[in-house]
Amino acid sequence: MRVLVFGTKGQVGSELKRILGPEDSVRFASRLEADFTKPQMIEQLIEEFRPSHIINAAAYTFVDQAEIDEALAFVVNAEALQVMASCALKVDAMLVHYSTDYVFDGSSQMSYEEGDTPNPLGVYGKSKLLGEVYIRESGCRYLILRTSWVISATGNNFIKTILKLAKVNEQLSVVNDQIGAPTSADLIARVTCDLIQKDEQDPLSSEIYHLSSSGEASWFDVAVHAINRAINAGVSLACDPNNVSPIPTSDYPTRAARPANSRLNSDKLETLLALNMPYWTDGVDGTIDELIRKGLLK
Ligand SMILES: NC(=O)c1ccc[n+]([C@@H]2O[C@H](COP(=O)([O-])OP(=O)(O)OC[C@H]3O[C@@H](n4cnc5c(N)ncnc54)[C@H](OP(=O)(O)O)[C@@H]3O)[C@@H](O)[C@H]2O)c1
Repeated sequence: MRVLVFGTKGQVGSELKRILGPEDSVRFASRLEADFTKPQMIEQLIEEFRPSHIINAAAYTFVDQAEIDEALAFVVNAEALQVMASCALKVDAMLVHYSTDYVFDGSSQMSYEEGDTPNPLGVYGKSKLLGEVYIRESGCRYLILRTSWVISATGNNFIKTILKLAKVNEQLSVVNDQIGAPTSADLIARVTCDLIQKDEQDPLSSEIYHLSSSGEASWFDVAVHAINRAINAGVSLACDPNNVSPIPTSDYPTRAARPANSRLNSDKLETLLALNMPYWTDGVDGTIDELIRKGLLK
């Protein structure tokens, strides 16, 4: 097995790097080695390294900024994937790619299954959906893993933002009418490694899978849980969990609209891998513990 990983400085990419480690059979490419605005860099790396598996963790992930930088979001999240998928086909590699709950409009009352009809609300979701379409149309072997609310001790995410705010503010207001499940980059990377190992033993068919923690929470629930966990672990914060107020999305306007329901149903993936996704609090707790270990919550 020869694995080429793109996007190794991001949340998921960093965890992939930690798990897959320094091996001759694994190549890690950050933006420096493969800038997705220069697709010939992607082509060259794949043709030189000739991987059996390509994992793409790179993406344009600035949801609000994408409304302004529309062209760039489509280049990185869609056009680069068209090139990557056609190279994967040429060298007969399996392409593992991450997509998002934001391909859905969030109007369903149920958790989203893989076959549900996408209808993205904003540019980011539209660009990620087109990336999916290009991969599926390319003829390459692929796994598209749609995930949600990614958290880790590296990079930017809700847990780091809320704890930073809780450090200096006695009161916080957090939206409670968007629901989903925080999913740790560590879980996503571990499941990805299980999938490529399984594919190596017995080739998998090309599919979309939903990969999300179990359970559900609003951003408000996640904030209260994170603040409680940090305080119980001895972190000094200005904000007491009782001083976090739930607010509607209408009181916290953002440039890009977000789905009210981001819940993804991971049953299909759980059946394939014979596993139960961990409850969302596990990933939040693990992230906070790692932030503490790294001295990032002082
Ligand atoms: N974050 C979430 O909440 C979330 C939710 C659902 C799905 N997802 C999906 O999950 C995947 C991983 O997300 P993540 O949170 O790990 O992302 P992330 O932390 O934002 O990392 C994205 C990586 O992509 C790289 N990148 C951006 N523009 C690039 C370009 N032009 N050329 C090459 N590399 C470029 C960035 O490089 P630099 O480090 O150099 O900036 C960064 O390392 C993505 O496909 C994302 O769409 C994420």
